[in-house]
Amino acid sequence: MRIALTVNGERREADLWGGESLLTLLRDTLELPGSKNACEQGECGSCSVLLDGQLVCSCLVLAAQADGHAIVTVEGLAKDGRLHAVQEAFVDAGAVQCGFCTPGLVVAVADLLARVPSPTEDEVREALSGNICRCTGYVKIFDAVRLAAERR
Ligand code: FES
Ligand code: FES
Repeated sequence: MRIALTVNGERREADLWGGESLLTLLRDTLELPGSKNACEQGECGSCSVLLDGQLVCSCLVLAAQADGHAIVTVEGLAKDGRLHAVQEAFVDAGAVQCGFCTPGLVVAVADLLARVPSPTEDEVREALSGNICRCTGYVKIFDAVRLAAERR
C-alpha cells in the first residue's frame, strides 16, 4: 500500500506492507535513524516520536496508521542548525552515555516541557517512566530536564 504523511514538517510518501511499523518506516524507508529500535515491544521508549502531537512508541504504531497524519521525530526538534533546548540541556548536563536511549528521552522531555513548563520531580519521573536508560542511573537525565525547564 502507499501512504502519505508529514514528517518533521515535510510531506513524504512511501510504499509499505500492511504489517510494517512506523519505526521501520522512519528508519529504513525515510532514512531517519534518530528513533532507535531497542526492544520493538513498547518497553523501552527509545523509538518515541510525536504522532499528531501525542507521544507514542513508533514500534507499536503501524506505519499505515500514520497515513494522513503528522510525525515529529528527534531529527525534527533542531531548527536552523541549532539544537533544541532539551538537546542542549542533555549535552550540558552530561546526560548522555551510550546515547541509545537519548533520542527517545529528548522527544519525551520536549513533549513534557511543552505541556508542563515547570514539572515537579514526580511529574518528571511519571513522564519518563516509559523511557529506559541502562547507563546513566537517571540522575543526570533529571538534571537535564531541570536545566531545560529553567532555561525556558
Ligand atoms: S523500541 Fe519501541 S519501545 Fe522499545
Ligand atoms: S545512555 Fe546508554 S541507555 Fe541511556
